[in-house]
Amino acid sequence: MLTLTHLIPLIDVLESKLHSEPELSFQEYDTTRLIDETLAALPGMVRVDMGLETGTVWRLKGAGRGPAVGLRADIDAIAQTETVCRSDRSCRAGIMHACGHDVHTAALLGAAMLLSEMREHLAGDVIFIFQPAEEVLRGAKDLVSKGLFEKAPFDMLFGLHNQPALPLGTVGIAEGPLMAGKDDFILDIHGKGGHGGLPDTCIDPIVAAAGVVNALQTVVSRNVSPLDAAVLSVCSIHGGTEENLVVEDVRLTGSLRTMRMEVRERALTRLREIAETTAAAYSCSTTIQTERLTPSLCNSPHMTAIAKRAAQAAFGAENIRTATPCMGCEDFSVYGEHVPAFFYFLGSGCADGQSAPWHKGDFRAEPGTASAGARLLAASVLTAQGIL
Ligand code: NI
Repeated sequence: MLTLTHLIPLIDVLESKLHSEPELSFQEYDTTRLIDETLAALPGMVRVDMGLETGTVWRLKGAGRGPAVGLRADIDAIAQTETVCRSDRSCRAGIMHACGHDVHTAALLGAAMLLSEMREHLAGDVIFIFQPAEEVLRGAKDLVSKGLFEKAPFDMLFGLHNQPALPLGTVGIAEGPLMAGKDDFILDIHGKGGHGGLPDTCIDPIVAAAGVVNALQTVVSRNVSPLDAAVLSVCSIHGGTEENLVVEDVRLTGSLRTMRMEVRERALTRLREIAETTAAAYSCSTTIQTERLTPSLCNSPHMTAIAKRAAQAAFGAENIRTATPCMGCEDFSVYGEHVPAFFYFLGSGCADGQSAPWHKGDFRAEPGTASAGARLLAASVLTAQGIL
């Protein structure tokens, strides 16, 4: 039932085309056109009008009244220069599919082809979500705010990310937290500017910023249990002009990554308290803005059980690995706040474990990863609908 040998050449061509023509977040116009053209040619497929500039959602009508299953792929590339010379290397300077979203897109197209062929056996609808702008963690929120769950309802959702640390042919599965939630912050420290030779008449926010950056290192180390995961990073400092001036303001930006809501709330509270009180010790005031970008990605026991069965059907029990959680982020987690959802790590590395990691200029999923992903996504639908 999961035979897709006849589709592999087509999936490979699509992956290669997507790889050579990468587009940045919310600019995926050519990518969206390619997806729409491919799906429009498949029997049973209907495009859902979501009012999107980029990205696209399609529905395949099932023959029965079983659960509707959503499948999601992200489609955007990143600002990176491809360093490996191949015939299908990126033709767009400084833009590259260095996270393998080309593979995810081709995998979901492959699953759509296979499921379209099997549509008379499907117990319910399948919704195909080609999401823009995952890299900036805004595409999923955008789709939800534009009415995804009203316009294309589904009962459960599956998604995947390639994983170069796992060899091709294997699948990483983890129950519980898999990827971190992310909050960004902007911290402004306000002092009193003046002449560099008259520090006694000024309040120097640069000195205060130095104290604040150091003090913020205790948010995680002194407030979060060593058994819980959290990362707080100050990632930029902007302040100062000439060497003879004390400036009025300094701006720090950074991010907090956590796995659990209680840890997130405690860390955000301590971030505010420590920034305010440390700056105050230098006679400075502060303004802090935080924005929750994504919740953490957590696989429920129920969805994990379905996913395991699907992965076994697609690859055999001997090829299932325990996925190692990481503090990277994925906005797939946004859907998980609305509907039961499961996220796989799909092995995309070479057998010796030496594949380049995500976002590097020499990143490339092993050939065959896209069709492996197609098989896994199709198996997830068939398992969830009780067909496999
Ligand atoms: Ni990615």
